[in-house]
Amino acid sequence: MPQTDEHPATPPAHLEFRLEDATHAPSSGNEWWRRSVIYQIYPRSFRDTTGSGIGDLPGITAELHHIASLGVDAIWLSPFFASPQKDAGYDVSDYRAVDPLFGTLADFDELIAEANRLEIKILVDIVPNHCSSEHAMFREALASPRGSAAREHFIFRDGRGKDGQLPPNNWQSHFGGSAWTRVPDPDGAPGQYYLHLFDHSQPDFNWDNPAVGDEFESILRFWLDRGAGGFRVDVAHALIKASGLPDWHGRADGADSPGYPFADAPMFGQPAVHDVYRRWRSICDQYPGERVLCAEANVHPIEAMADWVRPDEMHQSFNFPFLHTGWDAAALKAIITRSLKAFDAVGAPSTWVLSNHDVPRHATRLGAVSPALRPGDGLGPEDVQPDSGLGLARARAATLFMLGLPGGAYIYQGEELGLGDHTLLPHEYRQDPSYARTNGERLGRDGCRVPLPWSDSTPSLGFSDAAGWLPQPEGWETVTRQAQEADPDSTLHFYRLALDLRRTHNLGLGNLNWVEGTDGAQLLGFGNSGVLVLLNLGTAPVPLPAGEVLLASSATAVARSTEAASGLALNPDAAVWLRPETA
Ligand code: GLC
Repeated sequence: MPQTDEHPATPPAHLEFRLEDATHAPSSGNEWWRRSVIYQIYPRSFRDTTGSGIGDLPGITAELHHIASLGVDAIWLSPFFASPQKDAGYDVSDYRAVDPLFGTLADFDELIAEANRLEIKILVDIVPNHCSSEHAMFREALASPRGSAAREHFIFRDGRGKDGQLPPNNWQSHFGGSAWTRVPDPDGAPGQYYLHLFDHSQPDFNWDNPAVGDEFESILRFWLDRGAGGFRVDVAHALIKASGLPDWHGRADGADSPGYPFADAPMFGQPAVHDVYRRWRSICDQYPGERVLCAEANVHPIEAMADWVRPDEMHQSFNFPFLHTGWDAAALKAIITRSLKAFDAVGAPSTWVLSNHDVPRHATRLGAVSPALRPGDGLGPEDVQPDSGLGLARARAATLFMLGLPGGAYIYQGEELGLGDHTLLPHEYRQDPSYARTNGERLGRDGCRVPLPWSDSTPSLGFSDAAGWLPQPEGWETVTRQAQEADPDSTLHFYRLALDLRRTHNLGLGNLNWVEGTDGAQLLGFGNSGVLVLLNLGTAPVPLPAGEVLLASSATAVARSTEAASGLALNPDAAVWLRPETA
């Protein structure tokens, strides 16, 4: 229950809680992925059963019931394929094998069996833009002469300038430095360059070559045949590059910059990429059980992203603009309205996401004090540390608000424990390639990838019998899953309640009507399926309306309540769900 305020502010005249016309009306479909909650497991940090300090598939199988108890529909499993782990598994050397670090194919089959028992789908994270430089196809390409069929699987080009000393174009890697690396010819003479939009250990495939498409279609079938519920598709906007590979003076990640809109970036969003996903969709549709495709299509603006989820393409696309919106009522309202319109226009659900393995966790992001986070990379020991109390309060409020929205929601492992980043991680532990590639200028993403705390067992809070691959921050012994199970007021119980209410009120398939008159005030509200969702982003408490019952509050893990909301106040940095007393 939100704290009552003895002297609640007089309700501003415009807070009448009348609902506007629907911004979004439910579409006719009721498939599971239109209203799903999908939980991301980052295997290396989930649960280690071998004492390697790195999580594994048997660890996921053993603990999956904990995740099932949250009431999620599916797991998105970050890569567990054979990989030299230069980019934490997003550098795949064999797409049909499990890396020994994580287990075996038999372990994957057992995970699927347990997931089936718990009625949870497992989505595999497929990485089609690039592989590992240790992949057999790339090794063969290196050993083959320029112009050979083996080299045509990748993007090899001659250099520019005298003796080819300059890279073929000016493209930059997402992780810093040039996007090209020069390799010797098989005879040892200085040779061609190959393209890698990420680390040099991640050569980009040449998707203009139909053999690459054939190979990936076979890989999809391999995992679908083993029971995968579908795929999260890595860097789904980058597979096809503009012909001629023209120079690009905009940002390496393509994000809009003055004079360089995303739409002009030659390495992203090329029209032919949609043919790939139409073929993939038809493959998924050949399997029973509504197998799905979820795009990591970091394209701008959001109306362009909707192209990835047209009826014959993918099912969902991560809503990064929502994730990147700050603590601001008008901005949140605008992006939500715009997202719903954009996705409604193509008959797809919008998705909502606040955290993942690539960004600072929202409990840290929303608690950052000035100066704010380093762009994209969170905070390090030298930075002003976040206000963790504020961050957690806002994170829970943002989550409750998000879970009230119609469409699909994503949860990143550990956010149900209220975890923030390890913002004091000593630099010697950093493994993200962007840290080394920029000589430490960028911190990288290790801070949000720290192994989960399960219990009070040492040395890594039940994650492993050994030290984890990254150390956990001080204080996590109080927020382990075991401790939170025992505490009815914990963030864990709060998530469970919110997810349960979301399901019973069918909010994922609902409509959205904004509360009239909150624009401009730092109070945001909407109605969905009879539930009134309110978020206070301001600095003053707001009296709750009469005639409503409090269903859930971010300020505490209240059990489903029959308490009248009248007389209570919604404090700053908190959210509530209400329903009419008469309902
Ligand atoms: C995606 C992944 C990220 C990875 C990159 C390269 O953005 O989410 O973790 O580094 O692709 O594969």
